[in-house]
Amino acid sequence: MDQSQKIGNERIIVTDALPYANGPIHIGHIAGVHLPADIYTRYLQKRGKDVIHICGTDENGVPITLAAEEEKITPKDLVHRYHNMIVNSLEKLGIKFDNFSGTSRVLHHKLAQEVFLKLFHNGYIEPKITEEMYCPNCKRFLSDRYIEGTCPHCGYPHARGDSCESCGSWLEPEELVNPRCKLCKSTPQKKKTEHWYLMLNEFQKNLEKWIQKKKWKKTVKSYLQGWLNEGLKPRPITRDLNWGVPVPLKEASDKVLYVWFDAPLGYISSTIEWAEKIGKPEKWKSYWKNKETKLIHFIGKDNIVFHGIIWPAVLMGIGEYILPDEIPANEFLNLEGQKISTSNNWAVWVHEYLEEFEPDFLRYYLTCIIPETKDSDFKWKEFQDRVNSELINNLGNFVNRTLKFIEKYTEGKIPKPCSFNEEDKKMLERVNSLIIEIEDAIANFQFRRAAMNWMKISATGNRYYDQMKPWILLKENEKRMATTIYLCSHIIHILATIGELFIPFGAKKIYSMLNLEEKEWDKLGEISIPSNHPIGKVRPLFKKVEDEEIEKQIRRLKMSYLSIDDFKEMDLKVGVIKEVDEVPGADKLYKLTVDTGESRTLVAGIKECYTPDELKGKRIVVITNLEPATIMGIRSEGMLLAAIDGDTISIISPDKDVSPGADVS
Ligand code: 2FM
Ligand code: ZN
Repeated sequence: MDQSQKIGNERIIVTDALPYANGPIHIGHIAGVHLPADIYTRYLQKRGKDVIHICGTDENGVPITLAAEEEKITPKDLVHRYHNMIVNSLEKLGIKFDNFSGTSRVLHHKLAQEVFLKLFHNGYIEPKITEEMYCPNCKRFLSDRYIEGTCPHCGYPHARGDSCESCGSWLEPEELVNPRCKLCKSTPQKKKTEHWYLMLNEFQKNLEKWIQKKKWKKTVKSYLQGWLNEGLKPRPITRDLNWGVPVPLKEASDKVLYVWFDAPLGYISSTIEWAEKIGKPEKWKSYWKNKETKLIHFIGKDNIVFHGIIWPAVLMGIGEYILPDEIPANEFLNLEGQKISTSNNWAVWVHEYLEEFEPDFLRYYLTCIIPETKDSDFKWKEFQDRVNSELINNLGNFVNRTLKFIEKYTEGKIPKPCSFNEEDKKMLERVNSLIIEIEDAIANFQFRRAAMNWMKISATGNRYYDQMKPWILLKENEKRMATTIYLCSHIIHILATIGELFIPFGAKKIYSMLNLEEKEWDKLGEISIPSNHPIGKVRPLFKKVEDEEIEKQIRRLKMSYLSIDDFKEMDLKVGVIKEVDEVPGADKLYKLTVDTGESRTLVAGIKECYTPDELKGKRIVVITNLEPATIMGIRSEGMLLAAIDGDTISIISPDKDVSPGADVS
């Protein structure tokens, strides 16, 4: 596709899905949302577009209250803590925003309430009495995530009211077997309550017409089409919760707005905040109320329906603001072959990453694996390989060998070039065509392709250097040497300018070594370095990623995999061994009869280290909820805990006289 079709002279608002302020930010957020948005915005800025990059933290709703309850702090403190952490991580990764706000701010509350009232008065919001799950003990309505129980599909005992993490099914709280209040474990009851519904059905026709015209990714369009085909139904946009934007109606003063109703409005409130900060409080309107503005939402695939249906319906219902133009939604990023799971700590947290490695390494590797068309996988080993071979051996080497040459042989000055020969011209043509590829890729949200072509420019430079052999020309043909080195410096200048999108910190370093400012994007291919330009101090661009550093990360990841919830699922009890029997035909096994509050049989491989007399009467620790296994024809109903050190087996035994059946935790 021709990039000029997609990027015109309009104003552009680039937004990133607002991360929940309920925890730190991880590589999934970066690869799926913030990095592509940052690359895109940096590109538009370089092309001289009037673009603002807007974000903030999503600070309302159940994700916040649940996390606050788990951490035993107030939602306000939680939001404050994670907002700051997220801001810090993003900043250190070089993700630049014009404004980064938060949805618990007064300004946002005010806007969300105004929008609610406007929709209400326009007839798009109506109340309805419904029955909802209520905890009689906690005296509160339980939203889906406050209810847990056994999944009716896979039997996972800790499924949530809205979904099962184990088998991935979407659930309704009523479907759970043995539902419990997540906080106090009581059984919830149904209770009548009143909620306000957004009449989505009213927007069906307009949304259909609007979506039909969009040239969005297939995945996005077909997902939205699926919703439209089902027929849009009214959706409740209020909740019984004590944290969030209060519903601005007298009869609903104890309720708040549903987080997905207010969150996208954060894009507008953050822009209003920006306008105030720059001392032009009306300026936000020239973006949000200007038909010439393009609104581009970078999101993950789980946010598609909210940005493609509900949010546009809200915007249509108010009728004052522009609608989204592009929704470049990405798929998911996995980690070492498994789904990222924050509760299991199966994640690479940005703040932790930054303690060990360069921000540019993560930016570059993540750009190479952005899940643009399908889920992708972050692998530490691949991270190391790509950084070392591409950023260091390809780019770093090209920059270093050229600039070192200048430092050593041309008195620290980029020499004056002579006329270009066929090979020079061919190389320049190749570079110019790669620049066009990059522009086209970015205009179409194909950032992986853009990064790959950028790397090809560096490879082209290296190949040219190798072919020309300036170290030989130095003695044999000084003019050719000067031209070669000049052109290599020109390529480095181009690499740094484009590189600002991918590795902004490295790019700055290159500028300083070149002693040059960035190139004008629209004149990227033009030869512009003055002859005999003195360069700056030459230093290695990056330091290689070592095996030990990667092994440490893999160890850390694997170590932290067992979550506290997983651990709690193990039912550990004190048992007393009552009887010890031989297992016919087995040298290492005993059949033990153990009292764990009830009598159970265990088959244990401890015969080589204990006599029956040593075992009888011994207190042990047993995992009692293991799936029973039949060993040598005997049904074993648990496992005892023992330390194993080479050939030595030592049974774990409580050192006080605790009763059989006592819990071990
Ligand atoms: O899915 C999420 O992480 C949400 N916090 C995204 C919100 S995007 C926008 F609408 F605010
Ligand atoms: Zn309860």
